[in-house]
Amino acid sequence: MIKINSFSSFFIANWKLNGNFKFIDQFTSELKIPNNVAKCVVICPTSIHLDYIRNKKNNFYVGAQNVSQHKEGAYTGEISCASLSDLKIEFCIVGHSERRQIFNETNTNVNSKSSQLIEHDIVPIICIGETLEEKENGETNDVLSKQLEESIPKFSNSDNTIIAYEPVWAIGTGLTPSFEEINNTHKFIKNYNNKYNNYKIIYGGSVKANNAKEIVSLSNVDGALIGGASLKSDDFTKIIED
Ligand code: PGA
Repeated sequence: MIKINSFSSFFIANWKLNGNFKFIDQFTSELKIPNNVAKCVVICPTSIHLDYIRNKKNNFYVGAQNVSQHKEGAYTGEISCASLSDLKIEFCIVGHSERRQIFNETNTNVNSKSSQLIEHDIVPIICIGETLEEKENGETNDVLSKQLEESIPKFSNSDNTIIAYEPVWAIGTGLTPSFEEINNTHKFIKNYNNKYNNYKIIYGGSVKANNAKEIVSLSNVDGALIGGASLKSDDFTKIIED
């Protein structure tokens, strides 16, 4: 498994259901990754494009956006941890709010997927976050506590797991919590039951070229999970450079 603690910050590009071979050719030829070994850049394309982008690897790592909770067998259309491992994929996003909301993924599913990823030496990037309604009802910390309790495998540790805090209402909306709110929520996660102090906790939700620097330099933030802005090579380059 890749040594996540050797990096000071993570920049994870979540391409969602976007991209094709031509896009990847252009994106990878334009992307400039600074020669800073402390920054870990991960690109997560669709599963179909994992192998193609892996062969273009240049200073970045490759991650999947999802994986099956089943090891093998009669599960048409699923992709297993073993297959990701065959492709030498280093990271996998798990429990993104789009998977939780659109595909009804539960904390139990997220936990089981993450456990198997760790067994296959693939780092799960486990997403947690509250909806707007939960935020407005003052339930953010309760929601995060339950997600932490139930989604993070018992044998997770700061060497094998990354946590991504993504307020659901900030994803793709251009809205973000204030910098102070982000930092405080990350502090809450790090201190939760005294368990996650040493974990890398990254922030996601409308990270752009014009706010990434401030967000990533917050004391409790160890990087960013970037959706929309990671599809533009110049924006993503700027986010990493800063
Ligand atoms: P966004 O998406 O940067 O477009 O808000 C983030 C995410 O979905 O991980």
